[in-house]
This record gives sequence, C-alpha cells and structure tokens, in this order.
Amino acid sequence: MNVESIYGNCAQILPKVLERFCAELESMDRRVKSETGEGIYEHLIARVKSEESMREKCTRKGLPQTKSCALRDITDAVGVRVITRFRDDIFKIVEYIRAIPDVEVVSEKDYIRNAKPNGYRSYHMILSYTVPWEDADGSVPGHYYVEVQLRTIAMDTWASLEHQLKYKKDIGNQKLIVSELKRCADELAGCDLSMQTIRGLIRSE
Ligand code: GTP
Ligand code: MG
Repeated sequence: MNVESIYGNCAQILPKVLERFCAELESMDRRVKSETGEGIYEHLIARVKSEESMREKCTRKGLPQTKSCALRDITDAVGVRVITRFRDDIFKIVEYIRAIPDVEVVSEKDYIRNAKPNGYRSYHMILSYTVPWEDADGSVPGHYYVEVQLRTIAMDTWASLEHQLKYKKDIGNQKLIVSELKRCADELAGCDLSMQTIRGLIRSE
C-alpha cells in the first residue's frame, strides 16, 4: 500500500533543507577553526521528524494530519542539535545563526539562563529558513521552519538520561528521582562554568 506522506510533495525537499542548513553550520565551524584553530562545536545531530512522530504530534496537539499542520503549525519537522564543549560557545553560535542571510529568527527560549524547574538546560531557536525550493504553500523560494537546540556536552548528557527516564513514569520513588535529577543538572551546570573558567586560564597563558 502506498500511503502518502504527511509532508506531501515536501517530503523530498525536507532532507535538502536539513542538509543545506547543516552546511551553513559546517562552513561557520570551518571559518572559526581557520581563524582561531579551534572548532566552535563538538558535533551536530540533524534529523527530519519521522512520519510517525509527526502524525503523533499533530494528534496530540489536536491538529489534523495535514502537510500544512506539519509544516506551518508545528515547527520542528526539521531539527538540528548543536553540541558544544563550552557554555560560552552556545551564545557565539546563536549570534552566528542570527547573521545567516537566509535565516530569520521566529522565537527563542533561553533554558540556560532560565533553566526549566526540572533542571533542563538548552538554548532553543525556531528559525524561518529561506530555500530555493517549493514550500508548504507552494511558494518558491520557500520558507521552512528549522528548530535548533544548542547545548553543551554536559547539558546533553543530562537531557538524554532524563528523556529516557520519562518513559519509565511507573517506577517508584518519583519524588526522589526528580530531585536527584535536578541536583545532577545543577552540578553539571557548575562543571560547565568551571570548565569555561579553566579554558579562560589556559587561553590567557
Ligand atoms: P514541543 O511541543 O514538544 O516541541 O515542546 P514546546 O513547544 O514546549 O517547546 P520546548 O522548546 O520547551 O521543547 C522542545 C524540545 O526541547 C522537546 O521536544 C525536547 O527535545 C526538548 N526538551 C524540552 N524540555 C525538555 C526536558 O525537560 N527534558 C528533555 N530531555 N528535553 C526537553
Ligand atoms: Mg519538539
């Protein structure tokens, strides 16, 4: 059976949008590396949201499973996670992203300066990205949302563990687990600051 993609004719374009945006970040990284000798991020994780997750998200949000809802109401069909070594690098990358000519920032959430109550830390951006291909409205050049999450290795470690535990809500000691997770998040945030201080000490020698 040939079921049509929720992304319709954009299904073939989404991977190209993702690839183009990642190429922007990679070229930024190479430029910084050639100027300073050090890359700006540790690694990137890029994905187009799977058919199944997108359909599930539309339903969860009370939206019909259409191309327009998937690409206009929901903003994370295209997602990139940027993992950095140091906290400072996140804010530098945010500035570089803001300066990409085809990028317009739609919204930002700073869960680093304002951590979520559970301890989650990350910087989130929703971008409107202009590409030379057709979009959900049939316009060319097209506009696609791109969700960017920027985190240090330490923040990512925590988020990954916490995400896994979320699926095990039935385990006992919920209260203790939540408070211990929060404590770990705060300790990791302390480590991020110490590591940054150490880098500062090394660089000024
Ligand atoms: P969605 O509707 O799920 O996209 O969330 P939202 O509109 O409230 O946006 P938000 O920026 O808060 O979260 C978007 C994404 O950030 C999520 O899909 C997760 O990938 C990540 N995220 C946010 N909060 C947490 C958290 O507490 N723990 C973990 N592990 N990830 C989180
Ligand atoms: Mg999401």
